[in-house]
Amino acid sequence: MAPLRTHAWSYIVANQKDSTLFGNGDELPSNSSNNPHIHELIEGIGRRQVITGGAALGILAFLGAPLLPRTTEASQAAGLPRRQERLLFNAVPVTRADTVTVPEGFKASAFIPWGTPITGTYPTFLDDASNTARDQGEQTGMHHDGMHFFPIDAQNGKGRDSSHGLLVVNHEYIDAPLLHKNGPTVVNGKRVNANEVRKEINAHGVSIVEIRRTINGQWEVVPSARNRRITAATPMQIHGPARGHKLMVTRHSPDGTSARGTHNNCSNGFTPWGTYLTCEENWAGYFATKDTELPRELSRYGVSSTSRYGWETLAGDEFERFDATRKSSDAGGDYRNEPTTFGWIVEIDPFNPDSTPIKRTALGRFAHEGVIFAPTRSGKPVVCYSGDDSRNEYIYKYVSRDKYRPGSRNTDSLLDEGTLYAARFNADGSGEWLALDIADPAFRSACDTAGVSFADQGEVLINTRLAADVAGATKMDRPEWGAVHPDTGDVYFTLTNNTSRKEPDAANPRQNNAYGHIIRWREESRDYAGRRFKWSLFLLAGPQSDSQGPNGQPLTADNILASPDGLWFDNEGHLWIQTDMSGSQQTDGPFGNNQMLVADLKSGEMKRFLVGPVGCEVTGITATPDFRTLFVNIQHPGEGSTPNNLLSTWPNGSGKRPRAATVIITREDGRKIL
Ligand code: FEO
Ligand code: CA
Ligand code: CA
Ligand code: CA
Repeated sequence: MAPLRTHAWSYIVANQKDSTLFGNGDELPSNSSNNPHIHELIEGIGRRQVITGGAALGILAFLGAPLLPRTTEASQAAGLPRRQERLLFNAVPVTRADTVTVPEGFKASAFIPWGTPITGTYPTFLDDASNTARDQGEQTGMHHDGMHFFPIDAQNGKGRDSSHGLLVVNHEYIDAPLLHKNGPTVVNGKRVNANEVRKEINAHGVSIVEIRRTINGQWEVVPSARNRRITAATPMQIHGPARGHKLMVTRHSPDGTSARGTHNNCSNGFTPWGTYLTCEENWAGYFATKDTELPRELSRYGVSSTSRYGWETLAGDEFERFDATRKSSDAGGDYRNEPTTFGWIVEIDPFNPDSTPIKRTALGRFAHEGVIFAPTRSGKPVVCYSGDDSRNEYIYKYVSRDKYRPGSRNTDSLLDEGTLYAARFNADGSGEWLALDIADPAFRSACDTAGVSFADQGEVLINTRLAADVAGATKMDRPEWGAVHPDTGDVYFTLTNNTSRKEPDAANPRQNNAYGHIIRWREESRDYAGRRFKWSLFLLAGPQSDSQGPNGQPLTADNILASPDGLWFDNEGHLWIQTDMSGSQQTDGPFGNNQMLVADLKSGEMKRFLVGPVGCEVTGITATPDFRTLFVNIQHPGEGSTPNNLLSTWPNGSGKRPRAATVIITREDGRKIL
């Protein structure tokens, strides 16, 4: 989500005094641990050399040394074609046009915008946003984010169908002024219209949409029993070590095994066995508590006395659950633990509309941006990575206990039984994965030293951030998406920005890091499961005067960017980078609207491929197996709009409310995208 949001709320209700309601959805930093910064660990690279701005580039000559090529036998075995050596299109210039701009020779068209009917009675979207809460529960949600295309023949893993499949899309959050005909009704800082809040709840979550390419090459929604809306109220199961934990007990689930809904679903992932993973990012802001002494599982995540949308201010169990205040003598009588049922990765079987989504607690609880799997091999553990997108938080890795068996339907244990690690980036280019495991001697010793105790592994995972503090992980500049190179297995992660970084370190080399960077690493063990890696910096985002591209040179007019966020490798090893620049970065800086670039790692080339409409974020990317159709999401076009002041009218044009949408990109000659 954009780092800063300012909304024009004055028109809503004269009585509204509470400026925190609906305000900035970004999390404030909540990591007050004393974890050392890198330069404190290695005195040789000290404060004198790690300084702000362009001068930071000096150290990167050492840190940015490319990782040595790994054998390409994996890609050859997989029958992958040889990579393109060059990017054969003209870069899109920086622009502030209210449209999606792609290079000459490519086409882009909006698809399944917010409010598209996909299930139930297929209610038509009404331009004045007067659709009901129930309608919204049968239409695509608001603010598309991470997504994945599952070929229709992918029920048991990898499919090949490139003209028919399930498009599964996250809906990260809502802009209430645009969701309702006249904006939300707020009286004395409280919500008073239950149906408005129900519509907001239904505009969150995930859409599963069966889509097909017609004979003339257009994609269309298939009216299908598989189409489904998952919302912030859909029943979910809790699995893994925190299932049944006393800190998961709520009035709704006295045995701590179930929960309602998923929200703030940012980036995503997908498993080797054909399921979708949606990630709960800035969930903490959906809760409020009046308690003054907060337990660590709330305070370390920034749960506070006010919520973002004020859902908890309405009466009734469906709303009161967002109030985490202790009201009863025990946890089974209130919702003090409702926030601990969020912050997880949720597994969804997109091919079974009757399946219950599962919160996988073994993968940790934090502001999950997304999740990306390392290449899986039969007989080896499953390994995946996830970033905690908040300032000064950590990057994590999960390694399953059990081995992956392709084709096996018994995948439950792979995401329930395993070890979670947090990353420590040493200044000499080495790195370590620190186990957050109560059975691990080093972790137990660190807990003893820190004077921190956990009763069991469930409590460790519920307090993942604290566990990583204790283990000594490296505070990062807001970890966002990860991507794994299909040939080399190198893992890339975006670090979007961190304007609260006061002390640079080797892995986060800029003070007050407004532009962000991309880090990468290579595991020492071939199965990705080991504890050691080597890392380097891939990109320092920024203007020409303060940046370093993949070729080691400053960025140019063809590729300047800031706040890298979305990240994805196509099968041929091109790295696609999407930006989430703040409103002021887009209007005041040299970067124009948010954009998507593509890098060829072999040549070091990087070019801007797409620029989004005014006030949007470009996020979410997936493709058909034949790579002739590329899907990209446009989130919150016209951010800050009100019904009477539309800052963007994409995609429907003059006078129409802006709508988040998927963009379908093809080549005019119908060939592969790159
Ligand atoms: Fe929802 Fe970290 O972006
Ligand atoms: Ca972001
Ligand atoms: Ca994001
Ligand atoms: Ca976002």
